[in-house]
Amino acid sequence: MSTKNSESIAQRWEDIYQSTSLNELPWEEGKPSTQLVELIESGAVEKGAALDVCCGSGNNAIFLAAKGFFCYGIDISPTAIGYAREKAAAEGKKCDLITGNVLRLPYLDNTFTLVFDRGCFHSIQPSERRAYAHSIFRVLKPSGMCLLECFSAKDHVYGPPYGFSAEDIEHYFSELFKINHIKEFSTGKNGADRHFLAVFMEKPPYKEKTVKVQYPVESRIYGMISV
Ligand SMILES: C[S@@+](CC[C@H](N)C(=O)[O-])C[C@H]1O[C@@H](n2cnc3c(N)ncnc32)[C@H](O)[C@@H]1O
Repeated sequence: MSTKNSESIAQRWEDIYQSTSLNELPWEEGKPSTQLVELIESGAVEKGAALDVCCGSGNNAIFLAAKGFFCYGIDISPTAIGYAREKAAAEGKKCDLITGNVLRLPYLDNTFTLVFDRGCFHSIQPSERRAYAHSIFRVLKPSGMCLLECFSAKDHVYGPPYGFSAEDIEHYFSELFKINHIKEFSTGKNGADRHFLAVFMEKPPYKEKTVKVQYPVESRIYGMISV
């Protein structure tokens, strides 16, 4: 993504947060995602560092901190991060919340046991989707889990925000991730139910690389001699 393009995307999100009160934002539910709550309550995610990408006002990051994760959140809008910091302080929860771009995550490789995304991937431009997949893959620990929530293609395909089918998800993520489960669900504010996909996937466990033995030139000569 060119710097100019990413600046205009950042400005667009910042304008939305500045021109609309938090409660009026269609995605702001003032509570953590039901899918995330269920996943954490199931005990399937190893405790450690968790990252909420495109964390908005921080409902999910704060929930993760309350559940004992070292929680990190990143969002492209400084106003959103301001809201998230205020909420975390009000609830007495420790979260590391910063302004930044999901496509250039400022974290070390193999850091997080969980990466959570609600409403981020479906806002990313089609040309950046592979970069998005690589970005979250890089920071996840081997065997780390990713829960991604995005709009389903049932409601619409073209965006942003875009809608996806299970096949689309396989297309963008299966090269890197083991996709465990794709669940369709619906939710929405004020009875405006929208269809979503919840994608449960993980980074494959660490494996020693199998070294492909290249026979040196000499052994080929030896082979010729021995024939
Ligand atoms: C639909 S909102 C969801 C917010 C939050 N995840 C939630 O569930 O309430 C999408 C969020 O993604 C952020 N965002 C969009 N593109 C981004 C990018 N490239 N990097 C980081 N954040 C981004 C926006 O600022 C916005 O807060």
